[in-house]
Amino acid sequence: MRTMKLGSTDLDVPVVAVGCMRINRLDGRDAERFVHTALDEGANFFDHADIYGDGACEEIFADAIGMNASVREKVVLQSKCGIRRGMYDFSKEHILASVDGILKRLRTDHLDVLLLHRPDALMEPEEVAEAFDQLERDGKVRHFGVSNHHPHQIDLLRRYVRQPLVANQLQLSITNATMITSGLHVNMLDDGAVDRDGYVLDYCRLHDITVQPWSPFQYGFFEGVFLGSDAYPELNAAIDEVAARHDVSTTTIALAWLLRHPARMQPVIGTMNVGRLRDCCKAADVDLTREEWYALYLAAGNVLP
Ligand SMILES: NC(=O)c1ccc[n+]([C@@H]2O[C@H](COP(=O)([O-])OP(=O)(O)OC[C@H]3O[C@@H](n4cnc5c(N)ncnc54)[C@H](OP(=O)(O)O)[C@@H]3O)[C@@H](O)[C@H]2O)c1
Repeated sequence: MRTMKLGSTDLDVPVVAVGCMRINRLDGRDAERFVHTALDEGANFFDHADIYGDGACEEIFADAIGMNASVREKVVLQSKCGIRRGMYDFSKEHILASVDGILKRLRTDHLDVLLLHRPDALMEPEEVAEAFDQLERDGKVRHFGVSNHHPHQIDLLRRYVRQPLVANQLQLSITNATMITSGLHVNMLDDGAVDRDGYVLDYCRLHDITVQPWSPFQYGFFEGVFLGSDAYPELNAAIDEVAARHDVSTTTIALAWLLRHPARMQPVIGTMNVGRLRDCCKAADVDLTREEWYALYLAAGNVLP
């Protein structure tokens, strides 16, 4: 698997991250097969969150991979906190307690990356800074980042937090590419010009923050997978054509579309199917042409000004 540096760190990470939000759908044996297939493919970066399966996903993962000191050295572990039932919570107390819970469930003494999952309207950046300092001092977290954050919110955090913010996990797929579209329609009167995210893609590139697209195969908000969907006939025809040209699956092409972007993004995949997992990993070796990239973008219903 091709690797890259995560954000401004020296940490080498595979360009495809394995999301574990759905791992609680697998029984023990299938979960084991899944995580070991990922390792065989060089996909050793695993994305978690304390809320996935109410913590069960982290436990299932730790069991499946047989977590111990030597396994721990071979994997890069990222988890997220800050979402609670009916609220978001970036208080120092909640962040510290969440990380202790995550470490216990993952059976490790440290996380490589901790992300703040979704902006908290009541965030006190000074408290986040204190929490990060303590987690770093205690050796519990090596790197910090955010998820679903706007550039201004990141700037607010950066004013108080000493550690670099190295990743921003955001919803992005060919069918949900508003952060790309607004950059193409600047200053126009059409809908494409609507700025929903403060040009977060350019911001992250400028500040060495790795964008981690989540739900790279979904349209809407978990409405379904666009591959093979009747809702996207033109897109599927275009993906079929590009897949045939490169002699790979449509899954590979959908992910290669994100990897072709010069922001050097690290998509977080959610499949629990080992065949599709391997297809996702193959995307690291497919280089789409400029013509192919734009053809897929337009086939998804996007327009150029
Ligand atoms: N930061 C956030 O707010 C946030 C939000 C959501 C998710 N995430 C992270 O992002 C990860 C990915 O999210 P996601 O699971 O929604 O992403 P996804 O990869 O777009 O969707 C995966 C789902 O699509 C299905 N699928 C069907 N056909 C597929 C195909 N041809 N190729 C790939 N998948 C296909 C998979 O089923 P099979 O298992 O049967 O293949 C699986 O249920 C999560 O695991 C989590 O780590 C983060």
